[in-house]
Amino acid sequence: MRKLSSLIAIMIALLLLISCNAGSDEPASDDSASDAPAASESTAEEKTMENLVVGYAQIGAESEWRTANTASIKETAEQLGVDLKFSDAQQKQENQIAAIRSYIAEGVDVIGFSPVVETGWETVLQEAKDAGIPVIMVDRRADVPRELYATYLGSDFVEEGRKAGNEMNNLLPDGGKIVELVGTVGSAPANDRYSGFREALADNIEIIDSQSGDFTRAGGKEVMEAFLKNYGDEIVGLYAHNDDMAIGAIQAIEEFGLQPGVDIKIVSIDAVRGAFEAMIDGKLNVTVECNPLLGPQFYELALRAVNGEELPEWVPSEESIYYPDNASELLPERQY
Ligand code: AHR
Repeated sequence: MRKLSSLIAIMIALLLLISCNAGSDEPASDDSASDAPAASESTAEEKTMENLVVGYAQIGAESEWRTANTASIKETAEQLGVDLKFSDAQQKQENQIAAIRSYIAEGVDVIGFSPVVETGWETVLQEAKDAGIPVIMVDRRADVPRELYATYLGSDFVEEGRKAGNEMNNLLPDGGKIVELVGTVGSAPANDRYSGFREALADNIEIIDSQSGDFTRAGGKEVMEAFLKNYGDEIVGLYAHNDDMAIGAIQAIEEFGLQPGVDIKIVSIDAVRGAFEAMIDGKLNVTVECNPLLGPQFYELALRAVNGEELPEWVPSEESIYYPDNASELLPERQY
């Protein structure tokens, strides 16, 4: 009996203790209060640019645009004091995948990459996710579920294609036959610039041939030579998915004995310095901008991701359109 009453007494004491703590706003003990960081203080784990380690799997060096993009990624890392591990995949998806795997093994804080093509990334991105490493897609997007990447930083390639289509309509109000130099097959910019252009193109303009020049000058020249051999002076317009292919094609057109920019109107994309020079020479009619200077935005997003911030699905880059009229005025200011 005495045992039972002391048990009841203990239970009542325990209940009283629990209800006191539940009603109080104070922490349970002074020890836990001293462990909590003040609201304005950063936690010990919070990263800064100076202790951020980034792995970046670049596509390669296929164009003037890519060279400027790589310079922006490397130079900004140096300016900010970020520890950058950089690799060049020489246009090969398997090399990019191997680079991403090595960054996972090294335990970097964030991985950035520009997927050379859109498909085939799920397995390696799942591995990064399993390792707790946020991935930022830069410049190009991969076709993967949203939970496999922190954000995508880059251009609206469909819109670039639409802009190019509208410019072609303005250059050829009476319509005619045109050819198209497509970028790397299966890449996001090639797919989107292809469809955006068609959305905007007037009904009186016919695309009589469309082939890949792989975003390179050599590729653009070679494919344009074949177009000229097959269609000769039937061609009144050329749409190139990047400036490098347009510059290669300009050479082919001149060698064929036609005047680029006059006999064949040319619209391309990127707005690199080489395109401004071609516009000044009257050989290129329009270039639609695609901004490669993504370094500063990339590291800012990388830091936010690694510190646990939810990022938007897409951070678009700002872009413009350029014409020959003010090309010489603008060229000295161009950074790429
Ligand atoms: O992904 C961007 C594209 O890739 C650029 O337009 C092209 O020049 C580059 O190689």
